[in-house]
Amino acid sequence: MFFDRPDSGELAVLVHLELSQTALNNDPREFEELVLSAGGDPADFISGQRANPHPKFFVGTGKLEELQQAVIQHEAEVVIFNHELSPSQERNLEKALGCRVLDRTGLILDIFAQRARTHEGKLQVELAQLDHMSTRLIRGWTHLERQKGGIGMRGPGETQLETDRRLLRVRIKSIHKRLDKVRKQREQGRRARSRAEIPTLSLVGYTNAGKSTLFNRITDAAVYAEDQLFATLDPTMRRIAVAQVGAAVLADTVGFVSNLPHKLVESFRATLEEAANADLLLHVVDYVDDERLRNMEQVSEVLEEIGAGDLPQLIIYNKIDLVEGFKPKLERNAQGKPAAVWLSAQEGRGVDLLLEAISDLLAEDVIHGKLSLKPQLARFRAKLFENNSVLNEDYLDDGSSALEVQIPLADLNRILASENMKASELQFAEASLMAKLAKLDQEESF
Ligand code: GTP
Repeated sequence: MFFDRPDSGELAVLVHLELSQTALNNDPREFEELVLSAGGDPADFISGQRANPHPKFFVGTGKLEELQQAVIQHEAEVVIFNHELSPSQERNLEKALGCRVLDRTGLILDIFAQRARTHEGKLQVELAQLDHMSTRLIRGWTHLERQKGGIGMRGPGETQLETDRRLLRVRIKSIHKRLDKVRKQREQGRRARSRAEIPTLSLVGYTNAGKSTLFNRITDAAVYAEDQLFATLDPTMRRIAVAQVGAAVLADTVGFVSNLPHKLVESFRATLEEAANADLLLHVVDYVDDERLRNMEQVSEVLEEIGAGDLPQLIIYNKIDLVEGFKPKLERNAQGKPAAVWLSAQEGRGVDLLLEAISDLLAEDVIHGKLSLKPQLARFRAKLFENNSVLNEDYLDDGSSALEVQIPLADLNRILASENMKASELQFAEASLMAKLAKLDQEESF
């Protein structure tokens, strides 16, 4: 990755101003959490008010002196602003303060850089970092030259800055190319899954809600035995076994952050595509976070933005172990559909309820049961086999077959229509399935 990473706990002075233009203000509490997430060690928090940002230093000269004092007093290594800084403001501040200065975009990029787990995610972060840097050509370029080989790179009369810019363009182009390739692969995987009717579940949620912890819990609890097909898939996707349904793919996504700088939303849109294409969203919420309602709204906004606002959603309230005596529970809506689960991903309590909820929600669109078929329905039987929907077959004395079928409702409807049959003509052993099929015929006739 591009930035030099701090080893641990870089001493930081935090700066947050309340500006009269409220759209430029970001939440100071979240700011502190973001700095901690990035591995910073907040030594001081300097706040103030201003009508407008100072063009040269963002803060006024009085505040700048206060900052200088704080940097010296705490021997701070970095000063972090809860605002966007222009490249020249950043440069001027670095000169005046004698240490590194990071703005909000730089801070968030740093967090993403640490958390990006997929090849694609890493490329995306690097691209966003390069973009952010392209206007800030001030430090950390030597290794780029080393990569490309310094000799022969510099044209006659080309200044260092021009060389840097050119190298930057070359690098950006090469990342774009690699990203295109990964995207194509991802798209192919997605198409293969959709052909095979494998439902996708996407974990979404505010940063730090516990998505990754839950991802590991679920995949441990419901590991899919024959995982070869997806063994090479990126580490944020795993096949799981879901009762009544069979295989499903579980995808983890990057954590959402409020007021994500606009250009970053663009950069990470592709990473979030997995969520936009999911059959079911698992929205993880930190139940003990005072800001949980606000965070949920933020997540909903991002989902809306990536076109995933209308997807079915199951809310998962996590970290209930932090509330004494709180037991895992599953809440259903008036129609009996699972709506929310309370659990502890860390302790693994309530994960069984979550799996039950997932199974119920996905099974809505899948028929799984024992079907008896008379010999004259041989063509229908053959089509079920063609569709890979028969798990088991037994023959009965009267020549009919007893099939264990598992089939998406959409497929069953298609096959029934092609045979001019009604769903209620099918003989399932399970009464609940018969009721579901009878309802289907009614819906059809409307
Ligand atoms: P991002 O990568 O920022 O999106 O975070 P995430 O949502 O993937 O959260 P992650 O799983 O990394 O967990 C964040 C923190 O919460 C970690 O310190 C976890 O140990 C902690 N955590 C996760 N689940 C639980 C839980 O059920 N109880 C408690 N007490 N802590 C939890």
